[in-house]
Amino acid sequence: MSKIIKKIEELRTALHLHNYRYYVLDDPEISDAEYDRLMQELIALEKAHPECYSPDSPTQRVGAAPLEKFETVAHSVPMLSLDNGFNDEDISEFDKRVRKNLGVMEVSYIAEPKLDGLAVELVYENGHLVMASTRGDGMKGEVITANVRTIRSVPLILHGEQIPSLLEVRGEVFISRDGFRRLNEERLKNELPPFANPRNAAAGAVRQLDSRATAKRPLEIFLYAIGRIEGIQLISHSESLMFLKSLGFRINPLIRANITIGQAIDYYRELSEKRHNLPYEIDGMVIKVDNLAFQDQLGATSRSPRWAIAYKFKAMQETTRLLNIEVQVGRTGALTPVAILEPVSVGGVTVSRATLHNDDEIRRKDIRIGDMVLIQRAGDVIPEIVKVIDAVRTGDEKEFVMPQNCPVCGAAVSRDPDEAVTRCSNPDCPAQLKERVRHFASKGAFDIEGMGEKMVEQLVSKGLVSSYADIFTLDKPALEALDRMGTKSALNIVNAIEKSKNISLARFLYALGIRHVGENIAQIIADRFQTIDGILSAKAADFEAIGGIGSEIAQSLERFFSDEKNRKTIQHIMDSGVNLAVSPLRFGEGQGEGLKGKIFVLTGTLENMTRSQAKALIEKSGGKVTESVSKNTSFVVAGASPGSKLDKAKKMGIPIIDETTLKEMCEV
Ligand code: IVH
Repeated sequence: MSKIIKKIEELRTALHLHNYRYYVLDDPEISDAEYDRLMQELIALEKAHPECYSPDSPTQRVGAAPLEKFETVAHSVPMLSLDNGFNDEDISEFDKRVRKNLGVMEVSYIAEPKLDGLAVELVYENGHLVMASTRGDGMKGEVITANVRTIRSVPLILHGEQIPSLLEVRGEVFISRDGFRRLNEERLKNELPPFANPRNAAAGAVRQLDSRATAKRPLEIFLYAIGRIEGIQLISHSESLMFLKSLGFRINPLIRANITIGQAIDYYRELSEKRHNLPYEIDGMVIKVDNLAFQDQLGATSRSPRWAIAYKFKAMQETTRLLNIEVQVGRTGALTPVAILEPVSVGGVTVSRATLHNDDEIRRKDIRIGDMVLIQRAGDVIPEIVKVIDAVRTGDEKEFVMPQNCPVCGAAVSRDPDEAVTRCSNPDCPAQLKERVRHFASKGAFDIEGMGEKMVEQLVSKGLVSSYADIFTLDKPALEALDRMGTKSALNIVNAIEKSKNISLARFLYALGIRHVGENIAQIIADRFQTIDGILSAKAADFEAIGGIGSEIAQSLERFFSDEKNRKTIQHIMDSGVNLAVSPLRFGEGQGEGLKGKIFVLTGTLENMTRSQAKALIEKSGGKVTESVSKNTSFVVAGASPGSKLDKAKKMGIPIIDETTLKEMCEV
């Protein structure tokens, strides 16, 4: 036993170290595969020895059971805000005030990038993370410990020679530009509205009641201050930061210490240039008095400390003229107005289009064609119109009217009174068709290489494809006849189409482009039904009986699958040799969750184990066994001579598995 405890300890120490090297130092020592192997080994041992559970274990970063609500906690030292400065003069004034209050000629400052995320406080007792909270109103925040544990760059255990008995440390949680882009791509695939900017995405992730959802968001942290520390004396803020670094915390590498106010202003100019090339967004620079005794002496107002100021960057806004409003038609027929702008450079990027979302938005902002408008770009986000510059209106501006007919096919459009969206009513509209075909061939769906936007455009406009099933009728001669298409490229596409024919049920469902059915929902349905036949005969109620599927989605599914045209299209696809692999079952979301949340019903006689052995096996992997089949049942395990439970399961479309599959599922 003690040997196992030792092994678990060794693995935890090694994984903490590799995690630190990867996420804090950005300097990994081992490959990802080796890291995964160590992690799997630890997960297996911890599973077999639940008595060794530790909240500090590197396995605990996948999130914990959801909370009902957040607890609140009072900050022992208030988390204040910062005063803002917008020009050099504001900064000189700040410096004058500081020197006057202290009665000194010159002060040593430290300048730090001001991250645009969310302030959090982390509390460590004897080197162990025990609590994390949001800033809240500055006096009281919300306890978000489980969520913060999922952030890989937050140390769960501190390292170093001198571990303080108590440490309250503050920093900014954020999402990098790359992380943000990936997150939004995924959300769009799942038909979820994209986040407006990385800050909103980070805020949403930090305030999830289900920390397993937080674990999937690419959150990062930089620490920038100590709130309270016991057992260690520090002289300056720069020394505090170095000390934090030695404990394993991630400190921003662009911090510049021991500088005069003039050098801080110079550094502001440098950072203003650099900011667009940084991997994360910053909205200014924080200038702080370095000496901690001076900080104490200066104190704070009720809102902000007198020893620091945020020198904010100029917003990335510009004015330009709105030349026209075009209307685009998407896959589901939604008409989206797009602003066509006189090209203008905003923060180094030329902007000539901006999203207008829908006609309500245009009314709300009273935007008219010909207006001078203030536009804004936040990081990688699509530019948007902030407001109209009323003062320069001439009266010649024209109001935008949503067309009565689809700008692409001419069919009537309609607007659901509950939705802000206007849609084209023609399901055969070429614009919709193009988008549907593009979606069908896209990465998360049939993933046909070479079938990009331009290609689809040609196929649809030349009439070669009038439903996505037609993709499978394309042959080399037909493709060769297209513009700029050589024999080799045509052959490559034919091969890619052939290769795409082996597809999982989940991807297939996603490819169909059913409204509200993104990758996640498609996977849930595939897991439950296992075959396309089961899905084709299901009714809205059968879909709704599955956890995670609401009535709107269920109705959309029924509508789609009961439509004769869609059924024919599916038949065509199947007839062209598409092979639907049974969807690989997904057990739980994160690592090491085993069968957590899965409910099993046993029926019939199993070959190699008794019922109670099967029950023990399932429970050991985190699953539950119940007596009767209901809509909550995840799987029915059927042995020889099964009873009526099997019939009921079949009727309800619950997946039925055998003993071998059960064993495979329970394997660590
Ligand atoms: S120091 C008492 N340093 O800015 C002063 N704040 O507007 C505490 N922030 O709530 C703040 N980067 O969320 C400090 N390097 C940095 C920062 C920073 C971002 C945020 C922080 C704070 C807000 C104040």
